Amino acid sequence: MTQHFISLADIPATELRAILDNAHSRKKARDGWPKGKIDADAPMDGRTLALIFEKSSTRTRFSFDMGMRQLGGTSITATSSDMQLGRGETIEDTAKVLSRFVDGIMLRANSHDTLTALAQNASIPVINGLTDYNHPCQIMADLQTLEERGGDLSDMTLTWVGDGNNVAVSFINAAAKFGYRLRLSCAQGYTVPGQYVEAARAKGADITVEPDPLFACQNTDVVIADTFVSMGDTDADKRLADLMPYQVTDALMSASAKDAIFLHCLPAHRGEEVAASVIDGPNSAVFDEAENRLHAQKAIITWCFDA
Ligand code: CP
Ligand code: NVA
Repeated sequence: MTQHFISLADIPATELRAILDNAHSRKKARDGWPKGKIDADAPMDGRTLALIFEKSSTRTRFSFDMGMRQLGGTSITATSSDMQLGRGETIEDTAKVLSRFVDGIMLRANSHDTLTALAQNASIPVINGLTDYNHPCQIMADLQTLEERGGDLSDMTLTWVGDGNNVAVSFINAAAKFGYRLRLSCAQGYTVPGQYVEAARAKGADITVEPDPLFACQNTDVVIADTFVSMGDTDADKRLADLMPYQVTDALMSASAKDAIFLHCLPAHRGEEVAASVIDGPNSAVFDEAENRLHAQKAIITWCFDA
């Protein structure tokens, strides 16, 4: 069966729970192994995943590539500018052609519409490696990170600070699925579109909007930051000026619960969205979070292939 991984809003909570459990057990099973060694069950043996990028990537690119190797499969990486896609070939034709060559496609797309058109025209699983709308693989790794530090997601408060961007949307989409409370503290003009919040609330998500970041962080268990200038944003100077009051500082972390965890999907900009003392400090989980992209994605890949 072809299962796409496009949005956490569209996947049942029980399936997402199973993916996260698989990510934990795959990580544990590899403890201390060389990174290139293949998992004992090699569930992707004989299968190839295409990794296509319309935007830059370090974590997504390397974690998907190594993930496929560890699952016993292979991958082929290309940027859209390497492909005829970059010269105007349609995404629909690209989907139909690649479906004849490879077993699955991961796409990082400028536009979410490109990703959905790919999925609609592919006969193989399609995985979302980030779009302008969301970043679901990232949130699975983030939730894995919180759980492995002992967190019970259904009893946690997570606070998003800064720009209401694509990563924030995936936290919104996952809130009802995992039961965490979510606070959104975004600058005026940078809030998440209200319809995304309302859609999540209609499915049971507990989401609070609190523009004051110091107030929003009171007693929160997790503080989350992301870049103030996402890929594709063209108004960098204005964004930095508008969003600087939302920098995650020691003051925000002090307002949070004792031992609150700091998350950031990376790449980070110290002195912009986060103070160096926070991201390089004792409460930061950002490098475990980055590592977990590998483990979470392996679980996502095997789910897509029912492997
Ligand atoms: N967090 C994340 O998706 O990083 P990359 O842009 O490096 O893939
Ligand atoms: N919001 C960021 C995430 C990068 C991983 C961006 O879209 O550029």
